[in-house]
Amino acid sequence: MKRFKLFDTKEDLIESLDENGRLIIKIGERKICLAQHQEQFYVFDHLCPHNKHSLFDGLINFLSEVVCPLHSYRFSLKDGVECEQRTAALKIHELRFEDPHVYLYLKD
Ligand code: FES
Repeated sequence: MKRFKLFDTKEDLIESLDENGRLIIKIGERKICLAQHQEQFYVFDHLCPHNKHSLFDGLINFLSEVVCPLHSYRFSLKDGVECEQRTAALKIHELRFEDPHVYLYLKD
């Protein structure tokens, strides 16, 4: 797991989110979605494991699953598993607040 400092403070993170509480983070060639939902922050791969559609606009439901806008597959934001295991799991990364900075712990 690799560690990247994203923001100096949590306030900087919140100011960077769009009106839907979303942000794309670019790490080299890779894009990661950062999403705020009900006081929680989630970070996950930008592309759906099923057919590589962007998950940036995917809704997050009451079960804390992100729903792919293309075929509505639902991925747990805890472990990335699709709810009916119809495709590979989504990679879920970790956001950590290490006073006062904000770090991304990126899975390979
Ligand atoms: S591309 Fe995401 S569910 Fe098919």
